[in-house]
Amino acid sequence: MDALIDALFTQGYYVWDDFLAPDQVDSLNLDMPEAWQAARIGRHDDLTTKTSVRSDNIQWLSAEMGKGVQAYLTLMETIRLAVNRHLYLGLFEYEAHFAKYAIGDCYQKHFDSFHGATNRRLTTVLYLNQDWQLTDGGELVIYQSAPSLEQSTDTLETLLPKSGRLVVFLSEKFAHQVNVAKRERYSIAGWFRVNGVTENQLDISR
Ligand code: OGA
Ligand code: MN
Repeated sequence: MDALIDALFTQGYYVWDDFLAPDQVDSLNLDMPEAWQAARIGRHDDLTTKTSVRSDNIQWLSAEMGKGVQAYLTLMETIRLAVNRHLYLGLFEYEAHFAKYAIGDCYQKHFDSFHGATNRRLTTVLYLNQDWQLTDGGELVIYQSAPSLEQSTDTLETLLPKSGRLVVFLSEKFAHQVNVAKRERYSIAGWFRVNGVTENQLDISR
């Protein structure tokens, strides 16, 4: 945990290998639902399904899915409290989904954060794939921090989606993408958000 806090403070991201032991990954895989939905982009009125940008399928995590998910959510709560205690990020809640990339699926370069008060501050991605090989593609590419998507051109990290690996980064700082998967690829992507009213709740009429 200290290494995570240090790395977030100094470089804004951390790659935590063997965050989960193989049996913990197994119990998450057992909890994985059979029904999937097409992933969407944006929020509120502009929710769209654009398969050219991302073609994965998702399922939002809930504690009812089973013991593996419950244990995972408990770990994320531990991270939330530690990060808040040391870095004062004011993380309020965690939302996460399983993601399944079929062969040929990808997710083009993007930021996770939305504009607005209930923003995503910290991204987590946990990988659930045994024996992932270089030739299997599906790497997570993290770009050097830049003000815009267009200016995010230099690669910072190229990471294989290896079982038990957790990647954590500041959502507003790093553009990233998922390269085309050449074998089925499973992960849990999650976001810690800050508390705040949404634009819809703001009453600025006077
Ligand atoms: C995401 C995402 C990365 C990954 O879902 O927003 O960037 O490696 N996922 O699955
Ligand atoms: Mn993302």
